[in-house]
Amino acid sequence: MKYRALAVGSDGVRVMMESALTARDRVGVQDFVLLENHTSEVAFIENLRKRFKENLIYTYIGSVLVSVNPYKDLEIYTKQHMERYRGVNFYEVSPHIYAVSDNAYRSMRTERRDQCILISGESGAGKTEASKKVLQYYAVTCPASDKVQTVKDRLLQSNPVLEAFGNAKTLRNDNSSRFGKYMDIQFDFKGAPVGGHILNYLLEKSRVVHQSHGERNFHIFYQLIEGGEEDLLRRLGLERNAQQYQYLVKGNCPKVSSINDRNDWKVVRKALTVIGFTDDDVEELLNIIASVLHLGNVQYGSEESGNAYITTDSQIKYLSRLIGVDGSVLKEALTHKKIIAKGEELMSPLNQEQAASARDALSKAIYGRTFTWLVNKINASLEFKDSSFSSKNASVIGLLDIYGFEVFQNNSFEQFCINYCNEKLQQLFIELTLKSEQDEYEAEGITWEPVQYFNNKIICDLVEEKFKGIISILDEECLRPGDASDITFLEKLEDTVGGHPHFVTHKLADGKTRKVMGREEFRLLHYAGEVNYNVNGFLDKNNDLLFRNLKEAMCMSENKILTQCFDREELTDKKRPETAATQFKTSLAQLMEILMSKEPSYVRCIKPNDAKQAGRFDEVLIRHQVKYLGLMENLRVRRAGFAYRRRYETFLQRYKSLCPETWPNWQGRLVDGVSTLVKHLGYKPEEYKLGRTKIFIRFPKTLFATEDALEVRKHSLATKLQACWKGYSQKTKYRKLRRSAIVIQAWWRGILARRRAQRRRQAAETIRRFIKGFIYRHQPRCPENEYFLDYVRYSFLMKLSRNLPKNVLDKSWPTPPPALAEASEHLRKLCMQNMVWKYCKTISPEWKHQLEQKMVASEIFKDKKDNYPQSVPKLFVSTRLNGEDINPKVVQALGTDKMKYAVPVTKYDRKGYKARSRQLLLMGNSAIIAEEAKVKQRIDYSALKGISVSSLSDGVFVIHVVCEDNKQKGDVVLQSDHVIETLTKVAICADKINSINISQGSIKFTVGQGKEGIIDFTSGSELIVAKAKNGHLSVTAPRLNSR
Ligand SMILES: Nc1ncnc2c1ncn2[C@@H]1O[C@H](COP(=O)(O)OP(=O)(O)O)[C@@H](O)[C@H]1O
Ligand SMILES: [Mg+2]
Repeated sequence: MKYRALAVGSDGVRVMMESALTARDRVGVQDFVLLENHTSEVAFIENLRKRFKENLIYTYIGSVLVSVNPYKDLEIYTKQHMERYRGVNFYEVSPHIYAVSDNAYRSMRTERRDQCILISGESGAGKTEASKKVLQYYAVTCPASDKVQTVKDRLLQSNPVLEAFGNAKTLRNDNSSRFGKYMDIQFDFKGAPVGGHILNYLLEKSRVVHQSHGERNFHIFYQLIEGGEEDLLRRLGLERNAQQYQYLVKGNCPKVSSINDRNDWKVVRKALTVIGFTDDDVEELLNIIASVLHLGNVQYGSEESGNAYITTDSQIKYLSRLIGVDGSVLKEALTHKKIIAKGEELMSPLNQEQAASARDALSKAIYGRTFTWLVNKINASLEFKDSSFSSKNASVIGLLDIYGFEVFQNNSFEQFCINYCNEKLQQLFIELTLKSEQDEYEAEGITWEPVQYFNNKIICDLVEEKFKGIISILDEECLRPGDASDITFLEKLEDTVGGHPHFVTHKLADGKTRKVMGREEFRLLHYAGEVNYNVNGFLDKNNDLLFRNLKEAMCMSENKILTQCFDREELTDKKRPETAATQFKTSLAQLMEILMSKEPSYVRCIKPNDAKQAGRFDEVLIRHQVKYLGLMENLRVRRAGFAYRRRYETFLQRYKSLCPETWPNWQGRLVDGVSTLVKHLGYKPEEYKLGRTKIFIRFPKTLFATEDALEVRKHSLATKLQACWKGYSQKTKYRKLRRSAIVIQAWWRGILARRRAQRRRQAAETIRRFIKGFIYRHQPRCPENEYFLDYVRYSFLMKLSRNLPKNVLDKSWPTPPPALAEASEHLRKLCMQNMVWKYCKTISPEWKHQLEQKMVASEIFKDKKDNYPQSVPKLFVSTRLNGEDINPKVVQALGTDKMKYAVPVTKYDRKGYKARSRQLLLMGNSAIIAEEAKVKQRIDYSALKGISVSSLSDGVFVIHVVCEDNKQKGDVVLQSDHVIETLTKVAICADKINSINISQGSIKFTVGQGKEGIIDFTSGSELIVAKAKNGHLSVTAPRLNSR
């Protein structure tokens, strides 16, 4: 929003100006510079009137703001209004006190120059109101933080407090400031208000004891009496009736319609707390206020001797309690005067009149000093206490709200000082604007037509000049020994400055003037008009004396504020204190210096009428103010001159970024740089002039256009800067991250490497132990080999546990290390036993029987007969002939003897070796050879001598039989296809296991009656059984692969 407003700024100005022009007939121009007839005072006032009628109270003369007091609430000071003026160029919006405030603030921020806002105008013109508006504007619009908020609150709340104690109703203004105030607002580098400081000038103390008709004492007295709680009043010994107090009845005006004392009391009470007053502070402060009222009510009587005595003891009682001073001390101090003569102290009694004025002097002193204390206390609360913050890097905006020029029926010392002060300010204004402006054009060699203006230096000199000035003469009269009086002072004035064109007395005046002047008056022809001052009281007020014994009494006070106000050192200090006027003169000179060091903004306040009425435009009164405020001269200079000027370096520095040739730096002469720059910006020749060291720009709008361009440019520069900065910061961040990552990596790698190294070391150690162990493996157990041996053992056992033989036939067994050879053997056996046992446990009776038979077969044939191996895998059967294969007759013949085995065999005849098919049946006691239904031969096992069989693969075998009788047919030659099975069965049945003879060569057998037969065995390709030529039975047995 703000940016857009700025971007369209220059157009905006034109639009504003044009619309202002069309509305001119009705509301006049918002800047007097735009007045067609700018030299005409009538036109000037007419413009003011038009605007005033439309409630437009603000008008510019260039950058000076003219403000007319509306005497009514215009509702132009809302927050929305403040926002409207914030950060906006002066000319873009209608004139306002906020525009001046904002402009000063922005100048302070951008140019880093301290600012001051000088608010001037006569009493009641709206200066104090204006200064409050400025303060409120800063409080609302400046950046804030928690800390700043307190400062803002305190800055704002200092106003009601100072106004309560320092303002009063006068004829001119219901809330007239009776002291001068200059307030510094301190800002930190961010532009937030962080502190403040107040300088106060010459409080009109005389008001405490006397008010002119229609005027009041300081507000605080009425506020306390109207608003103070019952308890409080009782404690202070006060009544809720202002009429009861001598100091409050002089003006005969206790109540004012525009003032609500009761409400104001609440506001002040709250403000005191915000500023940081403790309850004790407030109590002491109110004790003082109450004691002033009591003092006013102290009455005197006169003894016969003329000496004064106090008639109101109750007042003394209260006083003594409230300020903590012994009553008798007080009484004496209020009726006597201490004189030191020849080193001796003497108490001299006072007469009634003297005593009353001593009492009033005390009241004034107490109130005046308490006011100073109050300002100091507020300053302490506003002081910025951050140690890192030095006033060097603080920027300051000063706000001057000082009593305006005033003229009453009867003008005294105070009016003299006030009007002198206004002369000084006017002089400053002239110096800073009119004179300095013209001087500058001259110095810069700019062609220029001088404007005539009234320089009021002559009046300032009249008042303040050393030795010859009115103040010097007054001081002289005050200090002079002898009978100096106000009248002698007047005479002295006539003698010394009588010839001065701005000074007149009754005696010196012409007849006409004499009529309007008293004999005790002198007249000054101020820049703002003529004022008659009555010299009565000048000396006293200037001396500002307080009797020594009253000071001493005050030094005894137990009131904490009074002890600070009345210092004992003062009593011993022999030096005469400076007179009031000289003090004022000095502080004004200091103020001028402060103001000169800052860049000023002006607010010129005008009072529309003397009746404090809204809507009344008193032309005579206004013309008078326009004249003495020098507004016409101001306007003439403005119109003739240039709105803006800057030193070349400042101008170039600020705007150099707007021109490629001057950016980033201009190398040549400054004036050439500025010239190049403004040509680039398109300034027309009539718009500017180049002086010796400065550029002068005639119209504000030219400058505003440049400002707007700068604002736009700043954005692009800021973007560039931002980009650079972001890049830089990201790079830095990245580098930092990278560095961190590397550090972490390094650490982690270190850890890993250390772990690896350790593992390697351990591995090497293990290997070394292994090698050593290996070398020493045959040695008895010793440290060198124990690990190795254990390991070998362990690994053997582990390997063994994984590779145990799975069955009894599996003969594999890992080779044990030597140390475990024995154990290994034991284990092997155990393992075998275990397997066998396991095997046995699972074996069936049939299988057991089978195996028993196989065992027998093994015993007999193993490694002896060629076809034995082939027989091993073949299971032995219980019989090879079933019941139906055997002839029933044979079965019958065999009777009850149980048959155990039967097998078909081939029988070879004893003689011809003819092959006959037979059945061999093994019974319980005998073996039977049967042919079909016939039992051909029964061989009792007892008669069975043995069995012969060849070692070859044939199935031929011979059953040898004992031949004792002839019934026996002799040995039998048989052939079985299952020779191993058959013979095993026979051996078992006949229990003739050891009688089986496996013959390597031929087998002899008997063939009854002692005859012998021979069977020859040879190996051949196939089985052939036949009778050989030699009469032997020749058996050719096939050669088996296994052999
Ligand atoms: N801007 C304003 N708007 C409304 N009333 C105002 C304004 N300025 C001044 N006044 C009225 O005029 C009175 C006197 O103003 P003040 O600022 O006290 O005068 P000064 O300080 O110049 O003597 C105020 O109390 C107030 O009623
Ligand atoms: Mg004021």
